[in-house]
Amino acid sequence: MDEAAFFCANYCHRFPLRCDSMTRMLLMIVLLMSTDAEALRVIGGNVKVVQGGTAMLSCYVMDTNDDLTQITWQRRTREKPHNDNFLTILPRDGPQFVSERDDRFKYIGNFNDKNATLQLSNVALKDEGSYTCIFTLFPSGNQKTEIPLNLLVPPFTSIKDNLPTLGTEEVYLLPARLLDRSLLQR
Ligand SMILES: *[C@@H]1O[C@H](CO)[C@@H](O)[C@H](O)[C@H]1NC(C)=O
Repeated sequence: MDEAAFFCANYCHRFPLRCDSMTRMLLMIVLLMSTDAEALRVIGGNVKVVQGGTAMLSCYVMDTNDDLTQITWQRRTREKPHNDNFLTILPRDGPQFVSERDDRFKYIGNFNDKNATLQLSNVALKDEGSYTCIFTLFPSGNQKTEIPLNLLVPPFTSIKDNLPTLGTEEVYLLPARLLDRSLLQR
């Protein structure tokens, strides 16, 4: 059963119209138009990670048949406040660091799937910032998205131990946020 037939079978009896071929055709056109409206999209995310933890900087392209020629990762962090390229990924050479090598970054995506996902382990405060993944596509050109990376500083054990009610998540989150703000003010 196609989508139009399904629609008719389920809904048409409620309306004073017959599911004739004309109605079916109109429904098909509407369905086709809504599918065509989906354009190329770069999907990123928003990452929150605890200090020393592992972050997944997830990024991939959807709805395109373009050829992917290169993936570029840029970052703007506490350590490096100017946006710069730090990693490029080419189909044959694989991932290459632009300046200094940082083995905490691992390319876990898949070039053929247009998946730029990076894994960053042992995340430190200096890594907090914004990461941009750029897809160089042919013929549509560069397409990119920004992924903010925020650090959650874990609460100290002493604070945790002194709190009588540890049943809710809020108890953990509050000290972490306060701590983070105090770090930002430095
Ligand atoms: C992209 O790669 C990551 C890491 O391997 C994986 O978890 C994710 O599901 C992939 N996304 C897509 C859309 O293929």
